[in-house]
Amino acid sequence: MSLNDAQRPAVLSIGRIYCDLIFTGLAALPEPGREVFADDMKMAAGGGAYITAAHLAHTGRATALVARLGLDALSAGLAPELEATGIDLQFLERSKDAGPQVTVASVIGNDRAFLSRRAGTALPATLDAALNWAQAGHLHIAEYATLHEIPDLVRRAKTQGLTVSLDPSWDETLIYDPALLKACAGVDIFLPNKEEALAITGFEDPQTALDKLVETFPVTVLKGGAEGAWLRSKEHNLHAKAENVPVIDTTGAGDAFNAGFINAWLSGADAQAALNAGIQAGSLTVQAAGGTSILLKNKS
Ligand SMILES: Nc1ncnc2c1ncn2[C@@H]1O[C@H](COP(=O)(O)OP(=O)(O)OP(=O)(O)O)[C@@H](O)[C@H]1O
Ligand SMILES: [Mg+2]
Repeated sequence: MSLNDAQRPAVLSIGRIYCDLIFTGLAALPEPGREVFADDMKMAAGGGAYITAAHLAHTGRATALVARLGLDALSAGLAPELEATGIDLQFLERSKDAGPQVTVASVIGNDRAFLSRRAGTALPATLDAALNWAQAGHLHIAEYATLHEIPDLVRRAKTQGLTVSLDPSWDETLIYDPALLKACAGVDIFLPNKEEALAITGFEDPQTALDKLVETFPVTVLKGGAEGAWLRSKEHNLHAKAENVPVIDTTGAGDAFNAGFINAWLSGADAQAALNAGIQAGSLTVQAAGGTSILLKNKS
């Protein structure tokens, strides 16, 4: 729990921002040599750092995105959405080589295929200024890929007295990295989902995976979709059920969960209350398509 929440309430959220092009109403997923036509297509800002930041800002917590955005038309097209969320954009670096950074998502029911392109480095030129920001008390890292690109990120945040959370997020090329746990040393709150916990620990059962993760992290929160979430620390071994809500789209539910949990944790909530706050944010998000549309509904 942060001791300096009153003086340094702001959260920094670092990671890549994507322009998501989401195709729905498909008869089949794309395959080589075939063309598929979608009934509908939506463009939205994506990436865990943005979705978590938007949900944090929605709770009323000062939140700054520490990220890079391109100068191309697709990147520029995201600006109105970023501004509508109330996220502090003072540490958003705008640079030609940061875009276009795009994810094309093809969605049929629960099946989805993604095609993504990363552009340029994940390291924003604004990082030092952000970590030195007098209001910042916590850093959220939205994917292990970003920590992998900036290996001293946790140490630099700790030097400034910040607490740190990390959502590993799925990355086929990195999630099985045997050095992952060591590279995460210093992270205070680890926020994987079940698939990521299995890839990292080799254990499918959440309790067994948590037995392993508690050796590295003071707090681990394991997200299990419709099964809810688990929290493990030296003092706590908790579970919270998912809410019985009409599920439209689970994209970004984990990132929203992170925001609910982090905000409650920094506010001094006890472990069970923070876990419940994560569930509440996740439940809200699954009831609309996309990770942030439920927040923006009344703003556009
Ligand atoms: N099918 C569902 N029914 C009810 N709640 C859900 C469902 N899926 C997700 N949630 C809620 O959202 C929370 C986080 O979702 P999930 O476990 O899918 O995270 P995730 O896999 O990290 O998601 P993503 O990486 O796609 O953002 C869950 O703990 C739960 O509260
Ligand atoms: Mg996730």
